[in-house]
Amino acid sequence: MSYSIAVLRGDGIGPEVTVEALKTLAAIKERFGHGFLYEEGLVGGASLDELGVPMTDDTLALCQRSDAILFGAAGGPKWDDASTDLRPEQALFRLRKELNLFANLRPVRSYPMLDEKSPLRPEVVRGADIIFVRELTGGLYFSQPKKRWQTPEGRRAVDSEDYSEQEIERVVRVACELATKRRKKVVSVDKFNALISSRLWRQVATEVGSEYADVDLSHMLADTFAMQLIVRPTQFDVVVTTNMFGDIFTDEAAVLAGSMGMLPSASLSGLPDGRTLGLYEPIHGSAPDIAGQGIANPLAAILSSALLLRYSLGLDEEACVVEHAVTSILEEGYRTSDIYSEGTRKVSTQEMGELVATRIREPKG
Ligand code: IPM
Ligand code: MN
Repeated sequence: MSYSIAVLRGDGIGPEVTVEALKTLAAIKERFGHGFLYEEGLVGGASLDELGVPMTDDTLALCQRSDAILFGAAGGPKWDDASTDLRPEQALFRLRKELNLFANLRPVRSYPMLDEKSPLRPEVVRGADIIFVRELTGGLYFSQPKKRWQTPEGRRAVDSEDYSEQEIERVVRVACELATKRRKKVVSVDKFNALISSRLWRQVATEVGSEYADVDLSHMLADTFAMQLIVRPTQFDVVVTTNMFGDIFTDEAAVLAGSMGMLPSASLSGLPDGRTLGLYEPIHGSAPDIAGQGIANPLAAILSSALLLRYSLGLDEEACVVEHAVTSILEEGYRTSDIYSEGTRKVSTQEMGELVATRIREPKG
């Protein structure tokens, strides 16, 4: 089979980690004989600088006609001007909205060999294995009204949280489907006691959950969840929540994995049970402070390419091969600086990418 993949490297460490994800795919191609056809597009600050907009219609069209999108990162201090609303991140928002990428899957797990990199005690994080399903095309990020204006008393701005039952239903369904293949538990997180939109969220989530006899769907308030996530993370299997809450909790959850540099993501437009359009990106963002130094951890990008194989191309075995290669390289003690500790071997972004690619080509035992 031959697959077309749109490659949007973006800003900051985006390009350097994407290169390593491409090495992973090259190794998969060699071992399994798939054909990958890449087409590059500009996004984010890179596109703003070159073309004056965060993303052109051509780049959007490229993504629409591809089987999957590999995305690096967008944004950086160079484009952080609070007085303008023209921002690199708009490329991401436009892709999410126009490609209808409503379900953002963010798997978070603890790696036993990285236990001590977590600020939490090893016995707390050990065994944690959660998939967050973050709603990605609605809520506070997109709802209207969303504007700023001048009043006689001064400047004012508003964002809104608006959810339709259809928007809630489809994302909760993705969570339930995922749970059926895992530990069969879904926790839906909302702020039911304060927000009307959360009351609808809870109602619809309960209705969807009741269709899944073998899935145990329960609810948790966002503030309680924020605490439970670090008190006893092993209680969670699948967590589904709104766009804004999902953004916040997945950064918090990164402490379970030891580093943001370990967390991949998939943004999907359909159910994860067949081929579907998806955008794959590390959750760490552009990390401008370490860009260009060869020290960024490429594993989040590499693990994102595994999710691409699994969810967009239906290549589950190949995805597992990538994930096992990552685990095996970590077991051997190789670390980028974000996950380095004494007694392990520090490697560069590029070396880490090559180690994983080599392990894919030449599996052990
Ligand atoms: C993420 C990022 C984005 C978001 C930023 C870059 C706009 O933090 O994907 O989590 O808030 O959605
Ligand atoms: Mn975020």
